[in-house]
Amino acid sequence: MRLKDKIAIITGAGSGIGRATAKLFAREGAKVVASDIFTEGCQETINMIKSSGGEAIMVKADVSRADQVQAMVNATLEAFGQINILFNNAGIELSALITETSEEDWDRIMNTNLKGIFLCSKYTIPEMIKVGGGSIINTASIAGLVGFNNLGAYNASKGGVVILTKNMAIDYAHYNIRVNCICPGAIETSMMERILEMWGGNIEAIKQQFVALHPIGRLGKPEDIAYAALYLASDESSFVTGSALVVDGGYTAR
Ligand SMILES: NC(=O)c1ccc[n+]([C@@H]2O[C@H](COP(=O)([O-])OP(=O)(O)OC[C@H]3O[C@@H](n4cnc5c(N)ncnc54)[C@H](O)[C@@H]3O)[C@@H](O)[C@H]2O)c1
Repeated sequence: MRLKDKIAIITGAGSGIGRATAKLFAREGAKVVASDIFTEGCQETINMIKSSGGEAIMVKADVSRADQVQAMVNATLEAFGQINILFNNAGIELSALITETSEEDWDRIMNTNLKGIFLCSKYTIPEMIKVGGGSIINTASIAGLVGFNNLGAYNASKGGVVILTKNMAIDYAHYNIRVNCICPGAIETSMMERILEMWGGNIEAIKQQFVALHPIGRLGKPEDIAYAALYLASDESSFVTGSALVVDGGYTAR
C-alpha cells in the first residue's frame, strides 16, 4: 500500500476528481478526511470507501471560510491525531467574458479556487511541521497555464494556484513539506457537464470538439487525476516539489 496509515484531507471530495482521489487514497491505506460543502455527495463518497473496507470521515467545510477550515483541521486532529497529506481540490467554474463578469462572481471564483488553497494550507502546514513534513497537492488546471475563451476569472484563479504552489514549495521545503499542483485537461465530471451546458448548443457536438483538442483522443477521467495525486502524495515523489504536473492527454503539447 502506497499511503499506509497516512492521514489525508481531501477537499471537494463529494464529486468528480475529489471523490475518485478519496477512494484511491483509501484503497492505498490512507485514512481519509473527505470534506465538501456538498454533504450528500460527500456522504456517498464515505459510503463507497467504507463498503470497500477503507477508513474515512466526513467534515463539512467551505474552503473559502477561515473558521470552517480551522474546524476541518481540528476535526481531523481529533479523529486521527495528525495530518500528512492535503489535497486542495475544491473548485468552481465560471464561463464569462471579463467585461461580463460581476465583481461578486470574480470574488466567488477567487475565494474558492485560490483563497481556499491559501486557507487550507495556512492551517494545515503547522500540523505537518509538527510531524516532520507532508505533501500538499493543489488542483490547478491547464487553464492555469494557457488562456481559454470566456474563462477570465477561472484562468486567473488557476494561474494563481500554479504560482502559489511554487511559492509554498520553496518556503516550506526545509520542513520536508512538498507542494505540487496538477494541471488537468478536460475531465469528465459534473463541472465539465456544467461548462458544456453553459456554452449551449449541441452538447455532444461541443464535447467532440473538446475531444479533438486532446491528442490522446478522449477526455480525461477523474481516476486519471487521482493516480497523479497518488504519486505526488506518496513517498515515491520525495524529490518532487514545486512542480505543475500536466495531465491533459497532450492538450498543451501542441
Ligand atoms: N473537470 C475538469 O475538466 C477540470 C479541469 C481542470 C481542473 N479542474 C479542477 O478540478 C477540481 C475538481 O473539479 P471537478 O471537475 O471534480 O468538479 P466537481 O464539480 O465534480 O467537484 C468539485 C467539488 O468541490 C466542491 N466545492 C465547491 N466549492 C466548494 C467550497 N467553497 N468548499 C468546499 N467544497 C467546495 C463541490 O461541492 C464539488 O463536490 C476543481 O478545482 C476544478 O477547477 C477540473
